[in-house]
Amino acid sequence: MEVPPPATLRKPLMVPSKTLMGPGPSNCSQRVLDALSNPLLGHMHPECLEIMDEIKEGIKYMFQTKNPATFCISASGQGGMEAALCNLLEDGDVAAFGVTGLWGYRAAEMAKRYGADVRITEARFGKTLTLDDIKESFEVHRPKVFFLVQGDSSTGLLQGNIREVGELCRKYNCIFVVDTVASLGGVEFLMDEWKVDVAFTGSQKVLGAPPGITPISFSPRAMHVINNRNSRVKVYYWDAILLADLWKCFGRPQVYHHTVSATLLYGLREALASACEQGLKSLIRRHTECAFRLQKGIIDMGLELFVDNPRDRLPTVTTIKIPKGVDWQQVSRYAMKKYFFEISGGLGPSVDLVFRIGLMGENATIEKVDLALKILREAILNTSNIKLNERSK
Ligand code: GLV
Repeated sequence: MEVPPPATLRKPLMVPSKTLMGPGPSNCSQRVLDALSNPLLGHMHPECLEIMDEIKEGIKYMFQTKNPATFCISASGQGGMEAALCNLLEDGDVAAFGVTGLWGYRAAEMAKRYGADVRITEARFGKTLTLDDIKESFEVHRPKVFFLVQGDSSTGLLQGNIREVGELCRKYNCIFVVDTVASLGGVEFLMDEWKVDVAFTGSQKVLGAPPGITPISFSPRAMHVINNRNSRVKVYYWDAILLADLWKCFGRPQVYHHTVSATLLYGLREALASACEQGLKSLIRRHTECAFRLQKGIIDMGLELFVDNPRDRLPTVTTIKIPKGVDWQQVSRYAMKKYFFEISGGLGPSVDLVFRIGLMGENATIEKVDLALKILREAILNTSNIKLNERSK
């Protein structure tokens, strides 16, 4: 054989333990890590199906929905975005996108690839979209689908008017898709009450499960659109009707579609169980309190938050303006090298402009907030000549 086995695979696997306080993934709890080491099951075994049923119930609680078409996509959060758009859109359909950061643009790009006629409404930089901005988009574009991100991890913006937009979508007979990847569990989200038609979230953010499995829910209204398409869903892997049958959402016999990772199911099941035990209200309160403490600590230090309006700040991802004279990469490297602590830079429109600190799930604690502030301060002072306020020490 011309290709020998690689020497590098003879080394034992070594994985450092890091504090993941960027925009996600967040750290898994020991309970989730233990669950991941359970024996593998076949994806069609009854025990696996029982876990899938439990997961569906957990997701319904997290989204606050009774939608039967609630299941998981075997992919990261972006797979949820793909699945939502691929199922709803056909060639030439008008789809409108509210943009407050990278993820709105990303969704719009996906929709173009599915053949949609894409219209974009951008918020002013560092701001959220007002109801008037959105109303204007409906009036001008009359979209079939409207897409909004509840919490954009690239900018740290929280779009707080989802309930009102849900009303508008009904008025304009439009299907409402909300990306809750970085927000669910950290802020309120009431899918049914707010008239959201499709929502998806990340397993690896507030829930604290590994990435690679994405909860998603389709309302009966969304399913009606999908069931009445003129053309077939373009990507077999994302087909919501087939996936709903794999996940036995409608009481029909289970039908094989693809091999779901049983291991990821175990992790997500335990993450959901833990979130359900804590209860949504207390989970949200903890994230809110930690975010306030972090924001106050940042301001006390003399740094500036990227999002001016406190109402628009996403509790799960805080964005901090990089002060003049500070190199964010050096700060980030310092924190990682000395403390195995992740502090991220910006992404998309916020690249080179902000630090991002994530407070999600296991990492949304007072102790972790104080640790983040201490490390950020030390890293900035050791990699630049700028001065920070003393009282934040
Ligand atoms: C990923 O979600 C990121 O915001 O970097």
